[in-house]
Amino acid sequence: MPPPLWIQNNMPTLLRPSLLLLTSIYHFFMTILEVIFIERKPWLLFNLTKLRYKSFARLWTKNGEEMSIEMPGPLTELLSTCKGVVLDIGPGSGEILSRFNADQITAMYGAEPAEDLHAGLIRNAQRTGFREKYHALLCGGEPESLIPALYRSGILQISGRAGLASDGVFDEICCVRVLCGVPHPQETINGLYSLLKPGGRMVICEHVANPWRTEGRFLARLMQILYTLLGWPFFMGGCELNRHTVDHLREAGAWDKIDLKYYGPQDSIPFVVGELVKTGGKSYAEVLKE
Ligand SMILES: C[S@@+](CC[C@H](N)C(=O)[O-])C[C@H]1O[C@@H](n2cnc3c(N)ncnc32)[C@H](O)[C@@H]1O
Repeated sequence: MPPPLWIQNNMPTLLRPSLLLLTSIYHFFMTILEVIFIERKPWLLFNLTKLRYKSFARLWTKNGEEMSIEMPGPLTELLSTCKGVVLDIGPGSGEILSRFNADQITAMYGAEPAEDLHAGLIRNAQRTGFREKYHALLCGGEPESLIPALYRSGILQISGRAGLASDGVFDEICCVRVLCGVPHPQETINGLYSLLKPGGRMVICEHVANPWRTEGRFLARLMQILYTLLGWPFFMGGCELNRHTVDHLREAGAWDKIDLKYYGPQDSIPFVVGELVKTGGKSYAEVLKE
């Protein structure tokens, strides 16, 4: 006898994250074994942050490509129109680089803190035509890590026109599946806002807390809490299911345009995809026309 219709309709979307959670637990334990028996660096076990990045990098190296085949909403269209000097927060091993048009990008900076993903990132940057235009930075998107790395890269200068973080230096900043894992999200997003030029655009594709009061559903919100209690953030490299990213983005500063929509709002991992254009300067449409 087939299970009742309600179970058939609801269980797949609600339980799908449990597969990912089990996979990430497996990779965490495999990472511990590798660190002890293959790398022979057992002292790394005492650096939990590094160990968790390593374990997430292992998961992403094995599954990232498959998890990037289908992306929600109009992400591909949004990324394909990026131009100028672009900052990509948490590019991983560059699975989504092929969705950009490298020809219309002057320089691309990728802020990726997981060292183990950099070889793949640089390989994918070469493969997708970025070549010397791609700058892989070993840092996170949070200001205390990102700003020193940008200084070291030379794009931020101590003084001089358009060289200060407060002036805004990037035409576009892309956050794809990463703001769920950055520390102190409001401060981090404020920092990204100030790095954006006036009239610059932020492209967003992020999973967020289920909007159960509006278009989401309470059961999916409960499942997010359950997965969190089962250790989702620990095993998934700091990724949190409960983030109110849209509120943080709105509060970061003044925007001329906010166009964000939910995709899969009834799921336990609903996404928000779209773009925000910073107030001031030319409008994004004017820049595109030039
Ligand atoms: C789910 S993967 C997404 C990768 C890529 N953006 C994509 O969508 O294909 C999340 C990435 O964010 C990185 N990450 C984790 N914490 C971060 C932080 N504080 N700042 C920037 N990136 C971070 C991870 O190492 C990982 O590469």
